[in-house]
Amino acid sequence: MPAFSLPRCELGVATAATQIEGGEPDTNWHRWAAAGRILDGSSPARATDHWNRVPEDIALLSELGIRHYRMGLEWARLEPARGKFDPEAVAHYRDELTRLHEAGIKPLVTLHHFNLPGWFVDDGGWLASDALTTFLRFVELAVHEFGDLVEEWITINEPNVYATKSYLYAEWPPGERSYPRMLRVMQVLVTAHLAAYVRIHQLQPNAMVSVAHHLRIFEPAKPRNPAHGIAAVTSRYLFQSAVVHATATGRFAPPLLASKGYPPGRYCDFHAINYYSRSTVRGFADGVAADVDVNDLGWEIYPAGLIQLAVALNSRYPGIPIYITENGTCDAADGFRSRFVYDHLAQIAASRLPIVRYYHWCFTDNWEWAEGEAARFGLVHVDYDTQQRTVHDSGRFYADIIANRGVTEAAYDRYVADQQYPNNSLGGRP
Ligand code: BGC
Repeated sequence: MPAFSLPRCELGVATAATQIEGGEPDTNWHRWAAAGRILDGSSPARATDHWNRVPEDIALLSELGIRHYRMGLEWARLEPARGKFDPEAVAHYRDELTRLHEAGIKPLVTLHHFNLPGWFVDDGGWLASDALTTFLRFVELAVHEFGDLVEEWITINEPNVYATKSYLYAEWPPGERSYPRMLRVMQVLVTAHLAAYVRIHQLQPNAMVSVAHHLRIFEPAKPRNPAHGIAAVTSRYLFQSAVVHATATGRFAPPLLASKGYPPGRYCDFHAINYYSRSTVRGFADGVAADVDVNDLGWEIYPAGLIQLAVALNSRYPGIPIYITENGTCDAADGFRSRFVYDHLAQIAASRLPIVRYYHWCFTDNWEWAEGEAARFGLVHVDYDTQQRTVHDSGRFYADIIANRGVTEAAYDRYVADQQYPNNSLGGRP
């Protein structure tokens, strides 16, 4: 039966400041692009020029019936030099949030989404001795300036992805390859979340606050091979479980160390899951099984994983709502995105879990970090030369789901029935 309803889950879309705003704030990513480290040679200075197109983009959200919008703040715009805040940037974000409010769109605001001001980086980044106090001052500014317009916050996006890509695999700025430093950064980010969680609640007692976890399914390539089994269990623990446990309970287990000043307790008002894919592992590198569905970047498409992870989280840390704060796929031709949306939402519809939000990544195409402009995740296509926005069929499908609070037979037939995923053994993409 292709139709289903989604009575309890509100649908929204997600973005991040550096990936859409454009412009020349001095961030770690603008520097990384200037150093020639982006695959297609692009830089975040262009992106989707959202900074200059806020009214147009909000009109598009409204046209699609979207009522929930996850967005980020660019710290380097708000605090271009240490301790100096820019009133114009504050006014700009206030204007954006006010417009969202007037359009009946509820924002979920991310404070740190892989983006850092250049001066913060120059002073040692997250490993500087005063990194936490510096970050907290920014958090206070954000709550003070925007708290009347924002009830829901994500403190930090994907601490595990940031720490590993930036400090272990050298793929992201600052391009380091050090396990001890990666662990220290992970530890600092977890503590930064606990500190921000507490501070936001002191300033805004009714706020809803969480940290967005990038969660994957890890499977051994050969289930009977003990080395593969160990790799899967260890990856799962080191990459995600340890961090989730610390932020959900305030209790630290190795390799993380206890953070002084933050007693055990719950440090999230909702679980925030970013889910994209399953990894099939033989060792400590990501792998993809043979003969599976994959997206343009070769990531396995595995809808069941979304619920497997949510079930695990809900049974270990029960009693709080679950937000899927990101889920989406790279599909330049928009040839299978509707099926991807359908298959993942069908998992939510069939489950009894308290999944109350789902934010599709991404609203428009976005500047995809080290991949640059080439990787396309948008429900809305962006022509980067003209900045023309064109709603994909998947965007129309998503709007239809929102309007009908579920997938109708007609929508299934129109948008999903003919779509198939590329398969990595059929010579499909990657
Ligand atoms: C990140 C996004 C990114 C997306 C797709 C997530 O891990 O939070 O910033 O664009 O994955 O790669």
